[in-house]
Amino acid sequence: MGELVLNVNGARVSVDAPPGEPLLYVLRNRLHLTGTHYGCGEGQCGACTVLLNGRATRSCLVPISAAAGKPIVTIEGLEQNGKLSAVQQAFLDEGAFQCGYCTSGMIVSAASLLRSRPKPSDDEIVAAMDGNLCRCGTYPRILAAIKRAARLQAEGASR
Ligand code: FES
Ligand code: FES
Repeated sequence: MGELVLNVNGARVSVDAPPGEPLLYVLRNRLHLTGTHYGCGEGQCGACTVLLNGRATRSCLVPISAAAGKPIVTIEGLEQNGKLSAVQQAFLDEGAFQCGYCTSGMIVSAASLLRSRPKPSDDEIVAAMDGNLCRCGTYPRILAAIKRAARLQAEGASR
């Protein structure tokens, strides 16, 4: 065990945990940020996706020692001042989920995509989201939601 300082959703938090403990476990079990989900634990499903240094990252594969000091944003950190992010709102508007298990990882991956590509093509969306699996097969609605989010962001930026 050892104390590490993490920067989670804009707050500094001290965690007393083994340095090799996966970031996913720390978020869920120690910080009670349970919006980030455990799916496969092997980097294959995307349910555990968070932003690390602004990039979509599989938190099940990252030891906390590698995340210390870097900005971490979870699904809980995407809303600002009680207002959902464009991607969160678009997923709601399009009903882009069934059981919802994949949804937080999908939203975080989509947020990462739209930061680097504000107006992605359909092919770019499909390629960027390839590592996020949805067992319920809601992919068409997820695609529609990400396109809606891109429009919402563009409208917000032009105001
Ligand atoms: S739980 Fe991390 S990729 Fe599946
Ligand atoms: S909505 Fe059920 S896994 Fe995607």
